[in-house]
Amino acid sequence: MSLEQELNQHAGLKAIFDAAMVDIEKAGRPDELEAARVKYLGRKSELSLLLRSIPELPQEERPVVGKLGNQLRAHLEQSLADRRQELEGGELEARLAAERVDITLPGQPFPQGHLHLITQTMWEIEDIFTGLGYRIAEGPEVETDYYNFTALNTPEGHPARSEHDTFFIEGHPDLLLRTQTSPVQVRVMEKEEPPIYIISPGKVYRRDSDATHTPMFQQVEGLAVDRNVTMADLKGTLETFTKAMFGAQREIRMRPHFFPFTEPSVEIDVSCLICGGSGCRACKNSGWLEILGAGMVDPNVFDFVDYDVDEVQGFAFGMGVERIAMLKHRMTDIRMFYDNDLRLLGQF
Ligand code: PHE
Repeated sequence: MSLEQELNQHAGLKAIFDAAMVDIEKAGRPDELEAARVKYLGRKSELSLLLRSIPELPQEERPVVGKLGNQLRAHLEQSLADRRQELEGGELEARLAAERVDITLPGQPFPQGHLHLITQTMWEIEDIFTGLGYRIAEGPEVETDYYNFTALNTPEGHPARSEHDTFFIEGHPDLLLRTQTSPVQVRVMEKEEPPIYIISPGKVYRRDSDATHTPMFQQVEGLAVDRNVTMADLKGTLETFTKAMFGAQREIRMRPHFFPFTEPSVEIDVSCLICGGSGCRACKNSGWLEILGAGMVDPNVFDFVDYDVDEVQGFAFGMGVERIAMLKHRMTDIRMFYDNDLRLLGQF
């Protein structure tokens, strides 16, 4: 016989059972359940009072109330515990459902930067020349007069010095911000014997500022010293570079020029990137754009580093990285690189 059936023997206990089971079932929250516990099992509950009053009950009623009353109490305790667990489980589920995170949603976008166009161009130039077997050599930006000028066949008083409006260091007449990366040629040749194939990238400084000049800019200088090096090697090397940088259709031409440390010296032009050579505003109708300076290393420079001028020859070239980037991306003002306007920089 189930407890429920047995309780039919005592109308009072049965009534407690019925009411309690309804309230426990109805309780939807832990506080409601606690109220039901107090109501049916608390010290002042009907059941507790009844159990406490057993001694005063008529003789034949006592065992029935004692036994069934205790069973009822145990049953209600168990029902409360079961319901509590149900509620807690439900609460957890409800919380899990409410706080659920969709991990497949895209995250907060985070602005991402990238390398500056000048750095990208510098790395592109370096890649092309290291691919041709050149190695990268670097030197100081604060240079001595000797390496920047004298050892490059530009002695004091030489008119070529005045072309490089130089920043000197106050109180140190012998020190300056290098006007070119060419001093690295001399530094490498002093320490090493030919064959030498190097490029020297880096910052250089001149007291200049307009649409095509900034007081600081970047150069990549190249130097090749070996036996039987001719101007044809120089031309082939720079043609290979130009086609790799600007496209296979590009042609180059050499124009006579002057640099103190190369003899003969040339400037290299590339066929206009805009009109392809037929003539337009960008190339001032010439069909050509100047990209760099170059020449055969002057034997005087080899004398400064004690190379045997009867044994070795060399060529050198130097380019402005900003100029290459401006031509490639058709920019008109060099200062745009250093304005740090993300609307411009973000395009590259
Ligand atoms: N250093 C030269 C300049 O800055 C460029 C150059 C380098 C020319 C190497 C010839 C050879 O103007």
